[in-house]
Amino acid sequence: MSNSEILLKAKNGQKIEIRHLRMSDVRKAADFINATVDENLMLLRDRKVTLREEKEWIEEIFKKINRGQGIFLVAEAGKKIVGTCVLECQSYRQNHIARFGIAILTDYQGIGIGTKLTERVLEMASKIDGLEIIELGVFATNKRAIDFYRELGFKEVARIPNYFKYDDKSVDNIVMYHRL
Ligand SMILES: CC(C)(COP(=O)(O)OP(=O)(O)OC[C@H]1O[C@@H](n2cnc3c(N)ncnc32)[C@H](O)[C@@H]1OP(=O)(O)O)[C@@H](O)C(=O)NCCC(=O)NCCS
Repeated sequence: MSNSEILLKAKNGQKIEIRHLRMSDVRKAADFINATVDENLMLLRDRKVTLREEKEWIEEIFKKINRGQGIFLVAEAGKKIVGTCVLECQSYRQNHIARFGIAILTDYQGIGIGTKLTERVLEMASKIDGLEIIELGVFATNKRAIDFYRELGFKEVARIPNYFKYDDKSVDNIVMYHRL
């Protein structure tokens, strides 16, 4: 993928640009994560991130990106990150597996950003040497996300009981695989 591409239009007519993460994105990325916490999206993180924590996390993911073992794309509307998609290769006897994660802010869901981000990441992942399986975990109650992943070729391979707590209730984890 070239450095940036304008691919989509938001409901309010704003242009959505999909591009690689930059080191200078720390504040925008922290604002994005904190917005997902405010929106109570069905994601692992349930508390806000500090700028320092986000900087440290981005430095770590950049080490993987620079080794060809990670991908991080963002969708940006104006100066705001509205979606992210991350792939992290695992190591040792899981060298053939990469973990996948995606989130789109509520106002920007349902306009194709998730599909474009995932397709781009899968396309790039297929070029990583030795990678065979893209793995993710999704809340069993997140039917919309499960349907979304199925459409993109992911298949349910396991269900782990009571894996998350969401609004004080236990929720199973659906593990899904996409074979490259
Ligand atoms: C799940 C998610 C990644 C999908 O991304 P998105 O950008 O909203 O999805 P797209 O616009 O590309 O839509 C793709 C498909 O998703 C489903 N979908 C999207 N918006 C929908 C809506 N409002 N209602 C029902 N289904 C919807 C549809 O199947 C759609 O296919 P279609 O366009 O043929 O109808 C996104 O909604 C999201 O981040 N949700 C909150 C966080 C989350 O649950 N992340 C996954 C954690 S494992």
